[in-house]
Amino acid sequence: MFVFFLSIVHLTLSQDPTASLIFSDCKHLILPPLCQCYHSGDQSQLRCHNIQLESIPKLPNNMRWNALDFSVNHIKSIDSYVFSDIYVEKLNLKLNHLQTVDTTAFNQIKNVKQLYIDHNTLKEFDPKTLTSPGVSLEIFDISHNPLEYLDLGETFLQLTVLQEFYAVSCQLNNTSLFTLSKLTQRHDYVKIIDLSYNNLTSLCNNLFNNFYNLIEIRLNNNNIHLIDHSFIRSLEYIRNLNLAFNSIEYVPNLYSSSLENLNLSSNNIQYLNDYFGSHLRSIRIIDFDSNKYLSSVSPRSLCFINILTLKKLSFRFTNIVLLNAFSELLCRLVDNNNRESILDLNHNTNLKCDCMLVQFEKYLINYFDLSCIQQGQDRYFISKRTNEFSYCTRDFCQNRKRENLCDWTNAEQLMLEGTCQGKLNEKENSTKNETTFINITTITLNVSDIIIQNSTVLYNQTLKSFALSIKTVDYICFFVSLSLLYIRHSIGIFIK
Ligand SMILES: *[C@@H]1O[C@H](CO)[C@@H](O)[C@H](O)[C@H]1NC(C)=O
Ligand SMILES: *[C@@H]1O[C@H](CO)[C@@H](O)[C@H](O)[C@H]1NC(C)=O
Ligand SMILES: *[C@@H]1O[C@H](CO)[C@@H](O)[C@H](O)[C@H]1NC(C)=O
Ligand SMILES: *[C@@H]1O[C@H](CO)[C@@H](O)[C@H](O)[C@H]1NC(C)=O
Ligand SMILES: *[C@@H]1O[C@H](CO)[C@@H](O)[C@H](O)[C@H]1NC(C)=O
Ligand SMILES: *[C@@H]1O[C@H](CO)[C@@H](O)[C@H](O)[C@H]1NC(C)=O
Ligand SMILES: *[C@@H]1O[C@H](CO)[C@@H](O)[C@H](O)[C@H]1NC(C)=O
Ligand SMILES: *[C@@H]1O[C@H](CO)[C@@H](O)[C@H](O)[C@H]1NC(C)=O
Ligand SMILES: *[C@@H]1O[C@H](CO)[C@@H](O)[C@H](O)[C@H]1NC(C)=O
Repeated sequence: MFVFFLSIVHLTLSQDPTASLIFSDCKHLILPPLCQCYHSGDQSQLRCHNIQLESIPKLPNNMRWNALDFSVNHIKSIDSYVFSDIYVEKLNLKLNHLQTVDTTAFNQIKNVKQLYIDHNTLKEFDPKTLTSPGVSLEIFDISHNPLEYLDLGETFLQLTVLQEFYAVSCQLNNTSLFTLSKLTQRHDYVKIIDLSYNNLTSLCNNLFNNFYNLIEIRLNNNNIHLIDHSFIRSLEYIRNLNLAFNSIEYVPNLYSSSLENLNLSSNNIQYLNDYFGSHLRSIRIIDFDSNKYLSSVSPRSLCFINILTLKKLSFRFTNIVLLNAFSELLCRLVDNNNRESILDLNHNTNLKCDCMLVQFEKYLINYFDLSCIQQGQDRYFISKRTNEFSYCTRDFCQNRKRENLCDWTNAEQLMLEGTCQGKLNEKENSTKNETTFINITTITLNVSDIIIQNSTVLYNQTLKSFALSIKTVDYICFFVSLSLLYIRHSIGIFIK
C-alpha cells in the first residue's frame, strides 16, 4: 500500500488581487512519488502512468488540471469524494483494475469533461455516479468492462452535454439497449455512439430517435438480426453506420438523406431485396464484403440509389454469379457518363466470365485482379482473356428492356416494412401475418422484368429460400414483440 504525503509548497502569492486561489502551474507542488507534472502555457497535466499505483493518491485541491492521467496502474476502486474540489478537465483511469466506482466518487469534482474508465473489470456501473454538478462530460468511455448490463438511458439522461459515448465490448445485450426507450427528449449534443463488440440482437422501436444530431453509430461485432427500416430515419446528420460482423440476413431498406457509409460486411445476407438503396440519398460507400452466401441481388435493389454521390459498392468475398443484377445501376452510370469504377466484385469464386464483365470494365474496381470461371471450374483473370471476349458487343444498355423496372410507388411502399414486425407502438398490429412479406417477394421476383434469361434460374432458387427465411424471421419477430410488450409493461408498472 502506497501512502502519499502531499503538501503544497507555499507560493509567492500572485500580485493580481483578482486572481483566485486556483493555480494552474504545477511546478511548485510536491507530487505523489513517480508522478510527473507537465506545464505549458496555462495548462498543467499530472501523469502517474504505469507506476503501480494501487489507489488514487490525494491531490492538492487548489490546482487547475488540464489532465490527470492514472492509466495503466493497479487501482481497484474510485472511492467517495476522492476528487473533491479537484478541478480537472480530462480524467484518465483506463487500464486499471477497477471493480467499484462509488456513487459519490465524483461528488464535488470540478468541471470534468472527459472521463476514461475503459479497460477495467467493472461488473456494474450506476449512472447516478455521474449526477454531480461538476461532471459535465463531453466524452465518456466505459469500454472493455464486463458489465453485462448498463442503464444506457439513465447514462444519457445524466450526461446532458455528452458528445461521444463508448461502451465497446461490455457484453451488453438488448436489455441494456432497451433502456434507451426512457429517453423522451432531444439529446442534441451526442455525435458518436459506439456499442460495438457487445451482444445486441435487435435494433427495433426507434431507440436512437432522440439523438437528432448523431453522426456515427458503431454497432459492428454484435449479434444483430432485426432492424427497423426507420432505424435511422429521424437522424438528419447521420453519416456512418457500421453493422459489420452481425447476424443480419434480411437487409432493411434504410431511409436516410445523410448516410454516407453503410457497412454491412461479414453478415449472413443472402439476398438483396428490391429498392434496398432507394432512400439513401447521400450514400457514398456500401460494404457487403464477406457475406459469403450473398448470391442474389434483385435487379431493382439499387433503383433510385444516388449515383451522383455513390463512390463504392463492395461485394468482395460474396457469391455473386452474374453481373446482370447490377445492370440497372450500370446503365445509369453509362447514361450519366460516369468515369469512376465503383463496383468491387473481386474474390467471388463463382463469378462467371461473361460479356457484361467486359462491357462494364470501367465500373469494376481492380478489374485487372478480377477472376471469373468459365466452362465449369477453370478460373481466369478476365483482363488477360481479351481475345475470347472480342465477340462481345457493348450495346447492352441500348438493347435492354428498361421501362417499368424501377417504380417509385413500390419503393415508397416498401419503406413501411421492417424486419422488426409488431413493434411496440403498434400493439394491435403486432400479430401481423406474413401477407406483407409475400407481397414484397412477388414484387421482387417479377420474372418478366429480369433482363437476362440466364439469371432467371438463380432468382427462382432464391425465391424459395428467401420466402422460407422471411417466414422464420416473422415468427421470431412475433415472439420478440410479445416479450417486448411484456418488458415494457413491467417497466411501466415500475415507473408508476
Ligand atoms: C441480458 O443481460 C441481463 C444482464 O446480464 C440478463 O439478466 C438477461 O438475461 C440477458 N438477456 C438476454 C436475452 O440474454
Ligand atoms: C456475449 O457474446 C459472447 C460472444 O458471442 C459470449 O461469449 C458471451 O458469453 C456473451 N455474453 C453474455 C452476457 O451473453
Ligand atoms: C467495415 O467494417 C469492417 C469491420 O469493422 C472494416 O474492416 C471495414 O474496413 C469496413 N469497411 C469500410 C468500407 O469502411
Ligand atoms: C394497424 O394497422 C392498420 C392498417 O395497417 C392501421 O390503420 C392502424 O392504425 C394500425 N394500428 C396501430 C395501433 O398502429
Ligand atoms: C393476414 O391478415 C389480413 C388482414 O390483416 C387477412 O386479410 C388475411 O386473411 C391474413 N392472412 C392469413 C394467412 O392469416
Ligand atoms: C410484373 O410484370 C407484369 C407483366 O409484365 C406487370 O403487369 C406487372 O405490373 C409487374 N409488376 C410489378 C410490380 O412491376
Ligand atoms: C445462357 O447460357 C448458356 C450457356 O450457359 C448459353 O448457351 C445461352 O445462350 C445463354 N442464354 C442467353 C439468353 O444469354
Ligand atoms: C421458376 O419456377 C417455377 C416453379 O417453381 C417454374 O414453373 C418456372 O419454369 C421456373 N422458371 C425458370 C425460368 O426456371
Ligand atoms: C433481446 O433479444 C433476445 C434474444 O434475441 C430476446 O429474447 C429478447 O426478448 C430481446 N429483448 C428486448 C428487450 O429486445
